Amino acid sequence: MGKKVLVIGSGGREHALVWKLAQSPQIEKIYAAPGNPGIAELAQCIDIAVDDIDKLLVFAQGEGIDLTIVGPEAPLMAGIVDRFQETGLKIFGPTAAAARLEGSKVFTKELMKKYGVPTASFDVFQDIDQARSCIRNYTDQGKAVVIKADGLAAGKGVVVAKDAEEAYQALDSIMVQQSLGAAGTRVVIEECLYGEEVSLFVISDGYDFVSLISAQDHKQVFDNDQGPNTGGMGAYVNPPVYTPQLHQKVEESIVRPVLKAMAAEGYPFQGVLYAGLMITAEGPKVLEFNARFGDPETQVVMPMIEGDILPLLEAAVDKDLAGYQVNIVPGTCICVVLASAGYPGNYEKGKLISGLDDLNREAIVFHSGTAKKDGKPVTNGGRVLALTVRGDTMEEAIDKVYREIKKIYFEGMHYRTDIGSKSLRQGV
Ligand code: AMP
Ligand code: GLY
Repeated sequence: MGKKVLVIGSGGREHALVWKLAQSPQIEKIYAAPGNPGIAELAQCIDIAVDDIDKLLVFAQGEGIDLTIVGPEAPLMAGIVDRFQETGLKIFGPTAAAARLEGSKVFTKELMKKYGVPTASFDVFQDIDQARSCIRNYTDQGKAVVIKADGLAAGKGVVVAKDAEEAYQALDSIMVQQSLGAAGTRVVIEECLYGEEVSLFVISDGYDFVSLISAQDHKQVFDNDQGPNTGGMGAYVNPPVYTPQLHQKVEESIVRPVLKAMAAEGYPFQGVLYAGLMITAEGPKVLEFNARFGDPETQVVMPMIEGDILPLLEAAVDKDLAGYQVNIVPGTCICVVLASAGYPGNYEKGKLISGLDDLNREAIVFHSGTAKKDGKPVTNGGRVLALTVRGDTMEEAIDKVYREIKKIYFEGMHYRTDIGSKSLRQGV
């Protein structure tokens, strides 16, 4: 009999995971909690919130789910993996203790320092006056400075401040106004790194690991990396700045030591280790780790993985990744996020989405924030759709994706027009 899997989450990342899992010949049925209208075309959506661990557990037991895959970070930090494992259910993701690699910047920075993993130099503060004086040390020298709340902050916990005024404002907001609640009790203040960013997903069984294809996100909302940071406005695979030599260096000087350190400290990391890297003039350095797949990177990584992804996820859960090989299909892949007016600030929902039926068959539409109203798709989030296209070359993929986007419309729709262009500037 075929297997049953449950995917937890409701965004474009989870749609991409479900899309890939739906191609597995071993899977009989996919459930998604809570899913979205795009996911509903491939899976049965169950109306359970991602953080309702009790209900998710009861559902997985009752339905005889063979493997649960967790999309977002919140249930991981809340211990969903620990709870499932206690009852003997297989689940792909790190325990709450291991998920601190994403959940606590202080934990992670101190771990990297202890084990010599390259990252921005930093200090940790609980006292605001000491934090201010540290900021002054940077800005008096005309240096930018980065202020990070310790805990999870839904992408709002990091400010890259160009001058003292901006830095003090960020610090006040986090520590005095407590805009992020308990997440801002402690702050990390660190040097600003310069270079291109690269995201690498590594699947780990706690001891052995296998890397997937690298990707580049586009965090700022406007073209040429202008404007505030978002969850990510688009991505493409294999950024040319990330050469095979650099990849080898990243595996040896970052991934392997961090996984070893986690195991040595008593928290072996099982799941996806998402390394957010800055490729600086001095080499690759860690900006952050996440304990989950990235969004929108998953939307370009999944279409590039050859064959069935289920055995890979199962091998990670079964601590059986030694020697596992992941093959990548030829060509490239790009994804452009279509966002609601106002995003990443306030935005309205419920705008009718048109044109989805007119797309070329090559275009893959991943739903990020949509709902159905009277049987028709409407916007239901800041990031609404992630349009993904594969191509033989980057030029071809870029050309195709932007041609397809022109067919889609909703009131206030905006998107970046330069996704992937960094790769062309480097002549690849
Ligand atoms: P994080 O959540 O730590 O990855 O930070 C979110 C984003 O802030 C990163 O993807 C970078 O764009 C930026 N960032 C974080 N740390 C630094 C740093 N030390 N230097 C420059 N940019 C940074
Ligand atoms: N693409 C950024 C993230 O998933 O955190």
